[in-house]
Amino acid sequence: MKTDLQAARALLERGGRVAAFSGAGLSAESGLSTFRDPDPDALWSRFDPTELASVEGFEANPERVIEWYNWRRSRHAEVRPNAAHRALAAQPRLIQITQNVDSLLEQAGVEPERVFHLHGSILHDRCHNPACSYRESIDMHDPPPLRACPRCGERLRPAVVWFGEALPGSTWQRAEALCRRLDCLLVIGTSATVYPAAGLIELARAHGSRVIVVDPNPGAAGSQADIFLAGAAGVIVPALLDGFDLASEP
Ligand code: APR
Repeated sequence: MKTDLQAARALLERGGRVAAFSGAGLSAESGLSTFRDPDPDALWSRFDPTELASVEGFEANPERVIEWYNWRRSRHAEVRPNAAHRALAAQPRLIQITQNVDSLLEQAGVEPERVFHLHGSILHDRCHNPACSYRESIDMHDPPPLRACPRCGERLRPAVVWFGEALPGSTWQRAEALCRRLDCLLVIGTSATVYPAAGLIELARAHGSRVIVVDPNPGAAGSQADIFLAGAAGVIVPALLDGFDLASEP
């Protein structure tokens, strides 16, 4: 009788187009809190997302929002990629579609153009004025307080996607297009509850892709899995990918 891991490896052995779709669980073992885990550390059980991750929250209290992101930035500055990031980076032809705003995949060695950040990047600030394209990278060890855009004077804010905001157009279109032509989607550490990103799993399945899910808790992603691998990404992903040379494009 094949174990689930053996069955998942047999699926990957078939080759074809494979991509990875990840969430906060991928970076949990590096020491970054997830958002919705049944754990007191989870961000949305400690903080109010409408206050800290929405345009309304920013406009009501911009200092508070910047303070909170700078607290997360100082945390990011301390952490390093874990074994799951490294195992994914050891697949140079694999495209990483991620909801994560951290740079741990890139730090592990994934080429930046192969990481589709659907929810933006916490390593950058951008102008809050939708007509201004000003953007700058942030010193994560010493992130600046709230300040004005040097180009238009509006406030700068983290270059992340807040609730109710649109995803970055071209990145989203490329992720959707890729999910329409996959043979296998590897889903790692996401509760698959935030749309439109979570919709990529259904989209891939609707276009004939098989789905492998890695997560300690089945949740919404697990219910869409052909093979569900229960456990931590840092343990399962290296064992799952070991010895393969996977590709997202033939
Ligand atoms: N390995 C694998 N998965 C894990 C691990 C681990 N070590 N630890 C936790 N998980 C799983 C949880 O079981 C859960 O299914 O990771 C998932 C984390 O879910 P969320 O906290 O909801 O994070 P995510 O799905 O990335 O959230 C989506 O919501 O708050 C917004 O913009 C934010 O990008 C984020 C989006």
